[in-house]
Amino acid sequence: MVTGGAGFIGSHLCERLLADGHEVLAVDNYYTGTRPNIRGLLEHPMFEVMRHDITMPLYVETDLIFNLACPASPVYYQRDPVQTLKTSVHGSINMLGLAKRVGATIVQASTSEVYGDPEPVVQDETYWGRVNPIGIRSCYDEGKRAAETLFSDYRRQHGTDTKIVRIFNTYGPRMRPDDGRVVSNFIMQALRGEDITIYGDGAQSRAFCFVDDLVEGLLRMSDTPRDVSGPVNLGNPAELTIRDLATKIITLTGSSSKLVAEPLPEDDPRQRCPDITKAKDLLDWEPTVPLEQGLVRTIAYFEESLAASTAS
Ligand SMILES: NC(=O)c1ccc[n+]([C@@H]2O[C@H](COP(=O)([O-])OP(=O)(O)OC[C@H]3O[C@@H](n4cnc5c(N)ncnc54)[C@H](O)[C@@H]3O)[C@@H](O)[C@H]2O)c1
Repeated sequence: MVTGGAGFIGSHLCERLLADGHEVLAVDNYYTGTRPNIRGLLEHPMFEVMRHDITMPLYVETDLIFNLACPASPVYYQRDPVQTLKTSVHGSINMLGLAKRVGATIVQASTSEVYGDPEPVVQDETYWGRVNPIGIRSCYDEGKRAAETLFSDYRRQHGTDTKIVRIFNTYGPRMRPDDGRVVSNFIMQALRGEDITIYGDGAQSRAFCFVDDLVEGLLRMSDTPRDVSGPVNLGNPAELTIRDLATKIITLTGSSSKLVAEPLPEDDPRQRCPDITKAKDLLDWEPTVPLEQGLVRTIAYFEESLAASTAS
């Protein structure tokens, strides 16, 4: 079962699980997920989709739950912050309750945002974070932190087989063009020949993981023995500045867009880079798709979506 199965990462995970021969139930309230994301799966005899909001209890039979439901982009998670927090807290309680009842393993899609605006240059799992509890990003960051607490307490108190992965910036086909995330923003602006907006001086660094690599990491985590609970960082440690990313996208799209600077949003972290030593040791996992290759595939997807929307 994949909550958030009609979302960006969730739809790729469902696809991969089906390809590996599993029966898959996608659960989604279509808040940011879309039916077109799973269009290719609907005819699959082993695939089922259920419209459901995980802030409500759910009674189904399953042996493995990936809890991905939660809007991931600031534009969407800040649109209804109370619902975002409910999704992480009430949603986790409901999904953990289900896992406990049926004895399923449950994997939580946590986030590098639990580290907040970090002091260490590279974040490993022992760092407790530096998070603003009352800011506009808190509904997401603190929600995910509370979810990690719930996962840890269900394990300690009820013996549930919980696993936490902390996902760093992930990109790929089926990101929403309007979600305000840096990769989709830059690609859309480049394809439309618009100015590319850089927040601040563009010297802040990020590291981007292609979605296929991330899905592989999620699957490996789900397959670990019961005593492995994480948290485990999943992300690509190859860092680059936002300015370099913009330049790369301009080159790959052959765009005439120019870079323009805008003020930095509140609580925007200066640096984000995963230490993936633990994932390498525990899961024998590391990203394999180079940034340019992933960007080419993502640009092709956005080109297609743009052509389809102009044609209709
Ligand atoms: N994409 C990234 O870079 C990234 C980074 C860190 C963590 N994550 C985490 O991974 C997960 C998936 O992210 P994504 O990028 O695919 O985002 P997404 O917004 O595309 O997917 C989230 C999905 O959850 C669904 N959803 C939201 N609230 C729900 C609710 N209450 N009940 C049922 N469904 C609900 C949405 O409709 C959507 O399909 C999220 O939990 C996110 O926090 C993603």
